Amino acid sequence: MLAKVEELLKEVAGFKTSAPEEIEQFRIKLLGKKGEVTALMAEFRNIPVEQKKEFGQKINTLKQAALEKVNELKLAAVNTASSNHGLDLTMSGQPFELGARHPLSVVRNEIISIFNRIGFSVSEGPEIEDDWHNFTALNFPKEHPARDMQDTFFIDPEIALRTHTSSVQVRVMEGTEPPIRTISPGRVFRNEAISARAHCIFHQVEGLYIDKDVSFADLKQTLLYFAKEMFGEKTKIRLRPSYFPFTEPSAEVDVSCQLCSGKGCNVCKHTGFLEIMGCGMVDPNVLENCGIDSSVYSGFAFGMGIERIAMLKYQVNDLRHFFENDLRFLKQFKTAY
Ligand code: DAH
Repeated sequence: MLAKVEELLKEVAGFKTSAPEEIEQFRIKLLGKKGEVTALMAEFRNIPVEQKKEFGQKINTLKQAALEKVNELKLAAVNTASSNHGLDLTMSGQPFELGARHPLSVVRNEIISIFNRIGFSVSEGPEIEDDWHNFTALNFPKEHPARDMQDTFFIDPEIALRTHTSSVQVRVMEGTEPPIRTISPGRVFRNEAISARAHCIFHQVEGLYIDKDVSFADLKQTLLYFAKEMFGEKTKIRLRPSYFPFTEPSAEVDVSCQLCSGKGCNVCKHTGFLEIMGCGMVDPNVLENCGIDSSVYSGFAFGMGIERIAMLKYQVNDLRHFFENDLRFLKQFKTAY
């Protein structure tokens, strides 16, 4: 029996591990209810009297040694884990996830860049606008029914959230001698119910070109250039007569549907064309309102919705995606710049 205890003492002294499960197995084997120490204790009564003392002491030593060993190994295991903060330092690093530009920023930047290339600068104006810049100077007299074309958020009878970026053309013309070539991107506001096709906040880009002898042909050529740059070399444009108080004549601009190349499909409702903006020759009244001599100068203007262009370019079928910041949507624009 003494030999057995000696053997176990050696085993305890030589035992080494840092795995918590192995430490636990070791503890159970020696100190558990059915472990070696308990078994040896049971042998105690069979030991000859003269050996009882020595045997008792040896078992105690064994028990003590096993307990110490378990505690020592447990402590060491905890220390190794916490010195690495529980991390496996041999694992490869976490990749950094890059963000993406918002698709509206991507499209706005592209529009700016396309017009920059033909000499248009960028100008901006306030989002809270007075009646003069948003309406009156643009040839919307007070009580004119055309004011109802845009559902306005009024702050007081003279101040409102701008309903379009055309207000910026007034500010530019008031403050600049022609020639003027500028585009004005910005946020606009209309009191409309939110749906897949409309929102109360959206973005527009206004364009303005004022010089001597500017003609409707210049307008058409500029818009064709824009459409080809934005939607591809094969894109065609079509102008339909329309009405805006600040332009005369006015037109709505369609581009050929890129999905069916103008043949007709569900997206273009079998017309082969999709509307992208309004445009026209700046009404002489507007030039005069802004201090520009309409007998010397003429010009054209156009205005487009950035969401509309982005929806067509990226085939987004619900305007609300642009405002919800769902990462599953936004991540799809990682490769856009
Ligand atoms: N301001 C118009 C709108 O919000 C868009 C527009 C149409 C702007 C024709 C223009 C233009 O400059 O010539 O619906």
